[in-house]
Amino acid sequence: MSGFNINIPSFFRNSVAAAALALLAVGCASNSDDPVERRIDELLSDMTLEEKIGQLNQVTVMGSVEDMTEMIRSGKVGSILNDADPERLRLYQKAAVEDSRLGIPLIIGRDVIHGFKTIFPIPLGQAATFDPELVKQGARVAAREASATGIRWTFAPMIDIARDPRWGRIAESCGEDPYLTSVMGVAMVEGFQGDELNDPSSIAACAKHFVAYGAAEGGRDYNTTMVPERQLRNVYLPSFEAATKAGAQTFMTSFNDNDGVPSTGNRWAVSDVLRGEWGFDGFVVSDWNSPGEMLSHGFCADTEDVVKRSMEAGLDMDMMSFAYLNALPQMVKDGKIKESQIDNAVRNILRVKFRLGLFDNPYALEQSLDTVLYAPEHLAAAKQAAIESAILLKNDGTLPLKDNVKRVAVVGPMADATHDQMGTWVFDGEEDHTITPLAAIRSLSDKGITVNYAPGVAYSRDRSTAGIAQAVAATRNSDVVLAFVGEEAILSGEAHSLADISLKGAQNQLIAELAKTGKPLVMVVMAGRPLTIGEQAEKSNAVLYSFHPGTMGGPAIADLLWGEATPSGKTPVTFPKMVGQVPIYYGHHNTGRPYQGNEILLDDIPAKAGQTSLGNTSFYLDAGNDPLYPFGYGLSYTTFSYSEPKLSAQTLDKDGTLTVTCEITNTGDRQGTEVAQLYVRDMVGSIARPVKELKGFDRVTLQPGETQTVTFTLPMEQLAFYGYDLQRKVEPGDFQLWVAPDSNSGEPVTFAVK
Ligand code: NOJ
Repeated sequence: MSGFNINIPSFFRNSVAAAALALLAVGCASNSDDPVERRIDELLSDMTLEEKIGQLNQVTVMGSVEDMTEMIRSGKVGSILNDADPERLRLYQKAAVEDSRLGIPLIIGRDVIHGFKTIFPIPLGQAATFDPELVKQGARVAAREASATGIRWTFAPMIDIARDPRWGRIAESCGEDPYLTSVMGVAMVEGFQGDELNDPSSIAACAKHFVAYGAAEGGRDYNTTMVPERQLRNVYLPSFEAATKAGAQTFMTSFNDNDGVPSTGNRWAVSDVLRGEWGFDGFVVSDWNSPGEMLSHGFCADTEDVVKRSMEAGLDMDMMSFAYLNALPQMVKDGKIKESQIDNAVRNILRVKFRLGLFDNPYALEQSLDTVLYAPEHLAAAKQAAIESAILLKNDGTLPLKDNVKRVAVVGPMADATHDQMGTWVFDGEEDHTITPLAAIRSLSDKGITVNYAPGVAYSRDRSTAGIAQAVAATRNSDVVLAFVGEEAILSGEAHSLADISLKGAQNQLIAELAKTGKPLVMVVMAGRPLTIGEQAEKSNAVLYSFHPGTMGGPAIADLLWGEATPSGKTPVTFPKMVGQVPIYYGHHNTGRPYQGNEILLDDIPAKAGQTSLGNTSFYLDAGNDPLYPFGYGLSYTTFSYSEPKLSAQTLDKDGTLTVTCEITNTGDRQGTEVAQLYVRDMVGSIARPVKELKGFDRVTLQPGETQTVTFTLPMEQLAFYGYDLQRKVEPGDFQLWVAPDSNSGEPVTFAVK
């Protein structure tokens, strides 16, 4: 067995091929023998300036079908988004292919983020599986279902590094870690795009949001980011480079300004890094009206300025600002933009359309949608993803529920939330296909289980305490209470940031009253982010965190509660104790005055203590520095022990490869799956380095008493980073290494690079 390792991208690939591609993407006629490039050249030579500009224009479906088809027929639209009706999509595509002068197909896009009809757990939940194969399968299912309606492009994966749970879009992310995000992003790209892009069931992926969007100040969506180049390269860019290498066909520029430069006008990021260094040869689309928003940013003076800066940056397609459509014709006539600049952008877009096979197969396959949407194997994959994404955060032995548990109180606003358990970014999932925990548990009646259902609180923000007495009564009448709390879907996602990330409404009162009954209390949390649930976890006998688990959340959770399945999810993001600790993430720097883990907390400080009496280290007086749950954390119904890791060498060359083995034993009495994690620390660098960095992980399934050796292969190249001179390299020196069940455990061993 070997660990899941990706090749951490090298930013300086000077291969001839990459340079040629970059040239192709940013300038000049193709001069290529590639038949696709030849076809693009031929097409370009037939296109009017207006038709070329039309290719750069992406519009949402609006007005009547006649208005839309007319706009498409006249060559003013290269792409549409926001419709999923198969018949209309066929009409729009027909207008492009059969009725427009040159018959160039549309590329039809949609936000298919965590499923199309069959909804999978939110991406943050999928990341908690630490199971890239399963995540890839989820993206494949989404591609199969979406493409059946005519959609051939999704605006996913979202691979922003998210270290602030106040930011609502953390739900759409793979969490805080560059390595985990890279692995999951690659899995999603591979799943969406399939083995062959021109397979009608493949959809083009879109790596977004380029770049640094997740670092929004204060966790407030759309806010400014301030990430310096070195940190961009070490933390925020690797997932995007990995997506490029995996063949992602499109990139989306983000809304934020980073250090004053809005991404849509960021020539360094789009042209120099993405195309120049990485050799990206697909196309770059803006986010919704993000070119136009450069006016609000105060970065552009007028529409012509918007167009100039977007074109100079390397933006190919304008999503919904119409700046290209409206201003480019005159700007070309006035000599302000060269037609060759437009040709390059058109070339990038046509290249992707050719690769998708749209010129040959512009329409969705003729097939019955009923055999594709919600297909049994899709639902089975969604259930498995929901099982693996759930994290057991606490358990005193109450779970799995025992045979003597017959009367079950099911309470809480998320117990039967058909809409909300699907999570954010659900344009197409239908709540009447959702199976909630309540429905799943009710179906256990053949096991002799009776359900006493009393939600207590109607929806997550509901402040009314009127229903709590009934929930308490149901609990008193039962052997156990299962409290489904959390957040409605609308509390996370785009533009849904929160300053307070505790349970909303009367949910905390509900938990407090349930706890007072003395009945075993199992808290199941469905949310779009880590919530500050310390007190409620304290009051509970067991806590299962399932994020928003999607269509099949109910059966998955029921299986976990009754032990038909065993939890194996791990936190993809650090859970803070209180919001004031944010940003809190495991891969922080040590500081010059690191936390010693023995600080005195607020109430212990003697009156009139002197200014320096607390030792002057970097910590919070009221919360300390420990999180509620660290990154990578999650329990099982069994237990595991780890041997000391063995290394193939103590000292390695920079181009060497270290093999790390560790024996993991199931020390409990049930089968279980453990996610073994490999971390390293670079002790001294030309710049301060993180105290730990994830470099590999592996899922190991063990029978009771069984031991397996986990093997990680760690090329020293994976230790490279951008140091003081902003060059990517492996710096010689000493390293610590852990193989551990989470980012906060284990004893390090050491090795050196010379
Ligand atoms: C805005 C969002 O930021 C982006 O993620 C999404 O893909 C586009 N709108 C299109 O809906």
